Amino acid sequence: MKVYLETMGCQMNRLDSELVISALRAEGHELVADRKSADVVLYNTCSVRRHAEQKVHSRLGAERQRKQHHRPKLIVGVLGCMAQREGEALRKKYPHLDIVCGPGQIHALTDMIDQAAAGRPTVALDPSRDATPDIDSETKMDRMDLSRDPAAVGETAQAYVRAMRGCDKFCSYCIVPFVRGAERSRRPEEIVEEVHRLVDGGRTEITLLGQRVNNYRYCEGQRKVRFSDLLCMVSGVPALRRLRFVTSHPLSFTDDVLEAMRDLPNICEYIHCPAQSGSDAVLRRMNRGYTRAEYDEFVDRARAIVPNVVLGGDFIAGFPGETESDHEGSADLIRRSKYKNSFIFKYSPRGGTVAARKLKDDVPVAVKKHRNNELLAVQEQVSLEHQRSYVGARVEVLVEGPSPRANKQPSPPSDRSVQLTGRTRGDHIVVFDGPVTLRGQYVNVHVTDANALTLFADLLQGR
Ligand code: 5AD
Ligand code: SF4
Repeated sequence: MKVYLETMGCQMNRLDSELVISALRAEGHELVADRKSADVVLYNTCSVRRHAEQKVHSRLGAERQRKQHHRPKLIVGVLGCMAQREGEALRKKYPHLDIVCGPGQIHALTDMIDQAAAGRPTVALDPSRDATPDIDSETKMDRMDLSRDPAAVGETAQAYVRAMRGCDKFCSYCIVPFVRGAERSRRPEEIVEEVHRLVDGGRTEITLLGQRVNNYRYCEGQRKVRFSDLLCMVSGVPALRRLRFVTSHPLSFTDDVLEAMRDLPNICEYIHCPAQSGSDAVLRRMNRGYTRAEYDEFVDRARAIVPNVVLGGDFIAGFPGETESDHEGSADLIRRSKYKNSFIFKYSPRGGTVAARKLKDDVPVAVKKHRNNELLAVQEQVSLEHQRSYVGARVEVLVEGPSPRANKQPSPPSDRSVQLTGRTRGDHIVVFDGPVTLRGQYVNVHVTDANALTLFADLLQGR
């Protein structure tokens, strides 16, 4: 069948989608880029903010129309966090929906498609966090990670690899611990084996994933494998050029992790470590587990231990009870931490979380918007200064391919120069001119100019 798959949300969803694509291909299905030509339309969804869910609702409304009026045999499925959060309720709202599949059930998706084709809709959800774990599904999910086809998503040098599932931190605003379940660290040998296979298949930059990946801990009898041990094991895979990890929690950033980043040459010196707020009162209500001073101490320690470390952040604007001075605290933290970039979100209450139950969403929408814009403006200024400090420098870039601008033009002969884009070890986006044949390769460039988002560079001869 022809399958269209749209992925929303975080890197974990992108990884899940890649595994789904790999499984669909193995069953002989064909992936298509156009929803209209597909026999099966799948949405891999996100529940972190209301906005992400609204997008899915509008898509499902449109599919209902299409199914009723034009394509009665069309199979429509919702995967991921929103499927898990809404479950049966989603099918009640959209009776035309054939598949509702929780994030821990994607191993059975190809069967669900067969069932749907035979006229049998399926709702498959993960057990709730307090219920007995579904060992059978967990084993199948582990197998799915391991048996992925490195070529499933075409030629790319980059790959995500799961280090952990779930989250036990329960930040008060966050839906993830409810939809992705309890924190489980994968067996380190399986992670290493998967990385080996991916590198053999041509992937040279690996990003280890977890909701708070630096809290990785694998215990078996007396044996304890910490995150720094895992980094050491994975970084030893021959021919692995770059190793990254996201997302980190400041509390779990012990010195051994920072020292591993300093000492293992293929670990990239980029840390995405969300602060969420710069105010102690807000951090407490968010249940983040650290104070502003502790976060500052983490930043100073990271800068002291890891040379040229580049930091990225996340902030929530307009959390319940946030005052103007709390908000100033966040702006101040952006300036102090000198992030390369931050993702800034307006607070969005999520049903079932402690914040939604206990804290009144009392910051008016207009104020949230204003604070969001202010934080974006502060970050833009900080980003610009950070980026400008690279002008004149020589940096290594992993070439991703033609830039969006070059992609809009007719495809040139492979030896002609086009505008290429790629990333540095510090996760900066770089554009420069060069032949398309450099895709997937590592080159050195000389940075000539910068704006808040992009470094502009010249390819160095002899590379
Ligand atoms: N409202 C707004 N932003 C949120 N995030 C998580 N939950 C919410 C919420 N309820 C943001 C956090 C997190 C990022 C992935 O999404 O900043 O780090
Ligand atoms: Fe959500 Fe906090 Fe867990 Fe991150 S650490 S996934 S913000 S609960």
